[in-house]
Amino acid sequence: MKKILIQLDTDAHPSTFDRVVAVDSDVDELFSYGGVTPDNVTGLVHGAMFTRGGDGLKNTAIFIGGSNVADGEALLKKVQSVFFGPVRVSILMDSNGSNTTAAAAVLAAGKHVDLSQTTALLLGGTGPVGQRAAQILTSLGATVRIGTRSAAKAEATCEAVRSKVEGANVSAHETGTPEGLAASAEGVEVIIATGAAGIQLLSAEQRSRIGSLKVAIDLNAVPPVGIEGVEVFDKAVEQGGVFCYGAIGVGGTKMKIHKAAVQKLFTANDLLLDTAAVFEIGQNL
Ligand SMILES: NC(=O)c1ccc[n+]([C@@H]2O[C@H](COP(=O)([O-])OP(=O)(O)OC[C@H]3O[C@@H](n4cnc5c(N)ncnc54)[C@H](OP(=O)(O)O)[C@@H]3O)[C@@H](O)[C@H]2O)c1
Repeated sequence: MKKILIQLDTDAHPSTFDRVVAVDSDVDELFSYGGVTPDNVTGLVHGAMFTRGGDGLKNTAIFIGGSNVADGEALLKKVQSVFFGPVRVSILMDSNGSNTTAAAAVLAAGKHVDLSQTTALLLGGTGPVGQRAAQILTSLGATVRIGTRSAAKAEATCEAVRSKVEGANVSAHETGTPEGLAASAEGVEVIIATGAAGIQLLSAEQRSRIGSLKVAIDLNAVPPVGIEGVEVFDKAVEQGGVFCYGAIGVGGTKMKIHKAAVQKLFTANDLLLDTAAVFEIGQNL
């Protein structure tokens, strides 16, 4: 039976990036839909549910994407509510690459430090990638500081992480001023810049003063990069004892995780590949 991936994208045009990856993941047929919302998705899901019964259902799967992660999450919730009993298909949720990117960043950090013992600062950690990285890191036992310009926003992120990871050691840290940033970075071994594209969050001079730092990962590929001096192609490039990764340096692993996750969809009809499952796929690469 042919493997059919149904791409539900919350943007007007289904992402060409996600389409290329689907093709490269050996999907036989790709059905791509744009402008998908919780209000218009039900019929699309019914088409997946009611066509191939029993064991054949695992050959149909759903990918949820789009640039707005909150919209993707709302769509995921709706899609799940349409399923009943065993009449369901597997889902991969990766709006804006948030899960695969966070998983790849954490895997990179884990090559250099014991994540169960480490303290990590996520600069701009209140966005979807930061929140997912925090979820993965805390699930491994790391202590995570969410860097932000807004304590209230970061508190909400911490709450969201705690709702996913029981006992998560996560706290909000004001990093919008040089003093706040210096205090927040004290004693951290890992910094991951998960701030918005084109925003520098840590200068080379500020970085040089963090004596405990062992890994610096910048997920922003748009100049100026998030961590000054970390180049976008850097992949485990050592600078004064600190292993540096840029957005494209992390991107290779992200692509591998994305492809493996698409392939995994077709192994059962009831998988939900969200943050934790996507990270597990990365661990098993
Ligand atoms: N390499 C890849 O494959 C890949 C894939 C996906 C995403 N990315 C990159 O990963 C990064 C994170 O993505 P995201 O979608 O989670 O980010 P985002 O939601 O756009 O931004 C994350 C946080 O950045 C902070 N921020 C926004 N504007 C700022 C400013 N002017 N000054 C200082 N801080 C600012 C905000 O935190 P506060 O308001 O709390 O300060 C915001 O919550 C982005 O750079 C994105 O391009 C890379």
